[in-house]
Amino acid sequence: MINMSEFADKLLAWYKANRRILPWREDPTPYHVWISEIMLQQTRVEAVREYYKRFLISLPDIASLAAAPEDVYLKLWEGLGYYSRIRNLHKAAQVVMEEYGGELPGDAEDLIKLPGIGRYTSSAIASIAFGRKIPAVDGNLLRIFARLCAYEESIKTPAAIKEASDYYLSLMPQETPDVVSMRTERAENLCGDFNQALMDLGTAVCLPGTRPACDQCPVSDFCRLHREKPGQEMTLPVIPAHKERKTETLTVFLIRNGEKTAVRKRPSKGLLAGLYEFPNAKGTLEQDDAVRWLKKHGVQPLRIHKLCSAVHVFTHKEWHMTGYEVRIDPFDGDTDGFIMAYPEEIREKYCIPSAFSAYLQCLDP
Ligand code: ADE
Repeated sequence: MINMSEFADKLLAWYKANRRILPWREDPTPYHVWISEIMLQQTRVEAVREYYKRFLISLPDIASLAAAPEDVYLKLWEGLGYYSRIRNLHKAAQVVMEEYGGELPGDAEDLIKLPGIGRYTSSAIASIAFGRKIPAVDGNLLRIFARLCAYEESIKTPAAIKEASDYYLSLMPQETPDVVSMRTERAENLCGDFNQALMDLGTAVCLPGTRPACDQCPVSDFCRLHREKPGQEMTLPVIPAHKERKTETLTVFLIRNGEKTAVRKRPSKGLLAGLYEFPNAKGTLEQDDAVRWLKKHGVQPLRIHKLCSAVHVFTHKEWHMTGYEVRIDPFDGDTDGFIMAYPEEIREKYCIPSAFSAYLQCLDP
């Protein structure tokens, strides 16, 4: 039988000694925690660090985020991917200004009603920023749960998430009252630390896809899999195989007039909505079809040559791209919404998703 407080004590002691120093842990205000948690969805900690700092310099609080123009907040997100995250963040900031007087609510049930905040994120914000006793069950916590309890079902089900959540709730320390108002005195936040300790344990010790470092685990005495099948801890969790991704082919055009290159805004709905891109056509076009496509879009090529191929993998699809550089006569840029822009402008002003980064690099001299 698990001694519940011993589990939390050991985990929290390990966290105190081994916690990662991360920018959003330095001053965990509700806004800081919220921004970090949204950035960390689908994105590695190391990739988030610099984005997080730059974002807060430009948009330091909820009011500034709510008031920011689209091109400004999209540019701050450029390269992070999953752009619906920043669109929802912006919408949610407006809701918080209008409905909550500019203060993020502290209850997970209120947070989850905001755009872009789901079950995991509402729990992470409620616990880390407000000290609420609620497990934030992400992939790390699911994997650790599966090993601690020798859980042999798939962890990618609502039932597994519920079991993991109930399990951790039974082990969590007591809520620290009013972490937010006590922050200046550096109030301890045991529930937030409990969740973050498990996240760090999942990253440093109870590893995915390789043999976990059970000899360094503060809670290995509580781990059923370690006890029953030592050396075989990698056999869990059970994760069902991914569905195959759909492949789409695309022909990308770098339409150039002197130093300038054409970009255009993507439609306001669908994949990469509202971002900028190099003009492109469906399919892999041979040169004569490419020229036909260009003429149809009001572009008279003087010279055309093939560029590299590139692949970009999204969650549910892959783009297989080929490209052409097309030299044209001076052109006022109005054709089909094409905007002729200098490379610096393209880098600084327009948010070009990383799907196009192979072609963006071709702009370098
Ligand atoms: N991943 C998601 N949230 C995190 C956090 N607060 N610390 C470390 N990794 C995380």
